[in-house]
Amino acid sequence: MRRIGVLTSGGDSPGMNAAIMAVARSAAYHELSLIGVKHGYNGLLCKSHNIHDDMAELDLDTVLDIADQPGTYLRTARCVEFKQPEVRERAVENLRKMGVEGLVVIGGDGSYQGAMRLCELGIPTIGIPGTIDNDLAYTEMTLGYDTAVNSCVSDIRAIRATSRSHDRPAVIEVMGRHCGDIALKSAASTGAEIVVVPEVRWSIDQVADRLNALIARGNNRVSVVVAEGAWESMEPFDVYGFLTANGVQCYPGEVISSPRLASILKLKCGMVEARATILGYTQRGQHPSAYDSSFAFEAGNLAVKLLSNGIGNQVVGIKDGRIFYMPIADALRCKRSFNMELYNLINSL
Ligand code: F6P
Repeated sequence: MRRIGVLTSGGDSPGMNAAIMAVARSAAYHELSLIGVKHGYNGLLCKSHNIHDDMAELDLDTVLDIADQPGTYLRTARCVEFKQPEVRERAVENLRKMGVEGLVVIGGDGSYQGAMRLCELGIPTIGIPGTIDNDLAYTEMTLGYDTAVNSCVSDIRAIRATSRSHDRPAVIEVMGRHCGDIALKSAASTGAEIVVVPEVRWSIDQVADRLNALIARGNNRVSVVVAEGAWESMEPFDVYGFLTANGVQCYPGEVISSPRLASILKLKCGMVEARATILGYTQRGQHPSAYDSSFAFEAGNLAVKLLSNGIGNQVVGIKDGRIFYMPIADALRCKRSFNMELYNLINSL
């Protein structure tokens, strides 16, 4: 192998640039030239009509300067059309035109599906788990998760200081589309008293009962941490009916959201005020933590080492604190196990 490529795909995650830097340093070490593919899998489709705008040689000197930066230097995107076989064949043609013989894909499970398909078409590909959600079961941690949790912890602590000062509860929404790991870990790390996640069925009444019980015990500054995807596991609740009956302006068919949950809890628990904060992209656009940076360093290096030995179709992860690799298909078959003990502990103490 003389030339390899690297791309970032899906939502950006802290540590992606550090992984690109590690790939670049390792490629130089193995005497491989390195192509940076822009905008995820879209770059392989040469949408810019000039292949060099989508795929260009990565200069080691430039990459060395971006390692500790948030976001991704290569840009990222989701690429729905990559599911079509003829689109993937076009991508492989373009890779061959550029002389790219192997690829490192940094992204989540959708990106891994694309990587597997490229392997079937003869392009050895290695996946690095870049997503804040921590929703890839084969690895103990995904790249960016630790930073995202630390970012939530610092924000939740700040919100709890205001909650304490005003004796009012707070609803805090963190990211995690189908995975409650960020919510669970940041709730446990901040002493939040209630957490709701997509993995566990819950109802607004249950949360209100728990909040009322805490208030009765003298705690009127409770934090309710909500995973972004938790609405999918919530028992149906008539938001419009409840709020309009209580004199709050609301629109027919309005769906539940964190601000609405805060209003409903305020009414059900007789609080003077309850506010919601949605932390959103503040969790993704952070400088990577030491943990994520060193994971990126090892992962980028292992990915290139595998390719330079002619090994593809693998993903890199962490097991028992050590870096390892396994076949992509096997990794995607692993089933996630949610930490119910921690969930119950937070919601019952
Ligand atoms: O990268 C994961 C994630 O941040 C999820 O937690 C979230 O649901 C999703 O990406 C949002 O992505 P976007 O706003 O970029 O479409």
